Amino acid sequence: MSVSDLVLELSDTIPDFPKPGIVFRDLTPVFANADAFTAIIDDLAARFAGKYDAVAGLEARGFLLAAALAYAGHVPLVAIRKEGKLPGEVLSETYDLEYGTATFEIHPGQIVSGSRVLIVDDVLATGGSAVAATRLVERAGYVVGGIGVVLELDGLGGRDRLGDYELYSIVTEA
Ligand code: HPA
Repeated sequence: MSVSDLVLELSDTIPDFPKPGIVFRDLTPVFANADAFTAIIDDLAARFAGKYDAVAGLEARGFLLAAALAYAGHVPLVAIRKEGKLPGEVLSETYDLEYGTATFEIHPGQIVSGSRVLIVDDVLATGGSAVAATRLVERAGYVVGGIGVVLELDGLGGRDRLGDYELYSIVTEA
């Protein structure tokens, strides 16, 4: 089965989570399947081969992907964390998401200036968190190498909000 078929077959759809009116796509069953998870990491690594020197994961589910990609590519791992989790000097960006607002933070100065950073997360919805991540990566002095997600929810404007950045999603869903 192709990696996109595995994602479609194994993912769950939960109505009214985490709030009434939100139809939530849950990828944890996909990650719980060893063949599917391995195929996802291999696909993202291949798609962005030669285009990144480091990987940044968005807390929390993006960490799962970023850690595996950093290991697979033997490249630095950058954590983009929710507000208040990183000690010391941080850069912050507040953004709107499908269900509220949130703030992401990054530690500047941890990897080589000018590094091409691949930003990864499980789901792209409105793109608010991904846009915040691109700002943090650039404010920290790096370059966005690309944005990779497992599932893109079409029709919420995420791809448009990301403009000219190279965005790859394994599955795009209306
Ligand atoms: N699933 C997972 N993450 C999300 C979703 C979703 O449906 N919408 C916004 N973030």
